[in-house]
Amino acid sequence: MEKDMNVSEIIDIQAFTKTLGQWYRKNGRDLPWRHTTDPYCIWISEIMLQQTQVETVKGYYERFIRAFPDTKSLAGAMEDEVFKQWEGLGYYRRAKHLIEAAKTVEYEMGGRFPDSFDGLLGLKGVGMYTASAVASIAYGIKKGVIDGNTLRIISRVYNRQDNIALDKTKKNYQEIMDTMIADTNPSEFNQAMMDLGATICTPRNAKCGECPVRKFCLAFKHHTVGILPVNVKARSKTEHYYITAVLKYKDKYMMIKNKDGLLENLYGLVQYEAESPAAFEDQFYDTYHTSVRLLEYAKEVKHVFTHKVWHMNAYFGRIDEALQNSDCLYTKEELLTLPISTAHQKVLKLFLE
Ligand code: ADE
Repeated sequence: MEKDMNVSEIIDIQAFTKTLGQWYRKNGRDLPWRHTTDPYCIWISEIMLQQTQVETVKGYYERFIRAFPDTKSLAGAMEDEVFKQWEGLGYYRRAKHLIEAAKTVEYEMGGRFPDSFDGLLGLKGVGMYTASAVASIAYGIKKGVIDGNTLRIISRVYNRQDNIALDKTKKNYQEIMDTMIADTNPSEFNQAMMDLGATICTPRNAKCGECPVRKFCLAFKHHTVGILPVNVKARSKTEHYYITAVLKYKDKYMMIKNKDGLLENLYGLVQYEAESPAAFEDQFYDTYHTSVRLLEYAKEVKHVFTHKVWHMNAYFGRIDEALQNSDCLYTKEELLTLPISTAHQKVLKLFLE
């Protein structure tokens, strides 16, 4: 909280949740699964809502509950009947998991639907999000729901630039949600947050003018609603495996100046994504029309760039004949004056001593 918030800016959480609750009771969406507290029905609705828009879910939910009104009917159903009801909703694994979970409840739990957060988490297809939603809506358990909507609202209300793509932010915001939910009706609070996020505190063009809780919102106060939340997904690094060679011709070392790419203008060793020393030697011959022989293996040297990892299998080798392009060759003294990439300095050091 310290980074983005002035310490004097404390939110009155009780006033916030009270105002939000009043708004929800008057303006909350009238949705079919809000007319029941049957845990089975809430569970079905939340599984459908995981990856499908509210408007689409409405019809599917009502037909599904009519066809399979409880775990008993779902556990005993023909799989194809269930898939028929699911047809068009997508992510069919969800339907498969529903059947499996219904069987668990019927045949392993004596037909009693789990009534705790941890019990719900034990059902196939139920993760943190669904367990929190069902626990709070069906049983009044004080567990805040963390999803795209609630992460966005917390970021904005507290004017925090934490990256919501990170697990540590989710954990931290879970604590904030759990603090907020403490003095409320949990079902109402979680669903109010979801509705606020879906209808007013939207990702783009938030309707702050209509927001019931804007007087508590630090992003509204500081004009940062448009840049929040921060959601920077880490790109996974691509892995590259090279044979990287310190090559000598007589007493000189071969170094190539990079003309472009990641290490433009820096000098580097010859390296290929070759699978064996022989493959390296062939590729070298094709490029320089000169033979090379790799003579000694040192080890794998790893170098991590922002978006790449290089695994360099470091070899020492000798070039047999003079290179046509002799300005690639440098004495050890000259080598020390060249700008060389850190990755290749690590490899050079293995053979320079
Ligand atoms: N999205 C997921 N669950 C929801 C719920 N219970 N109400 C509204 N939107 C939702």
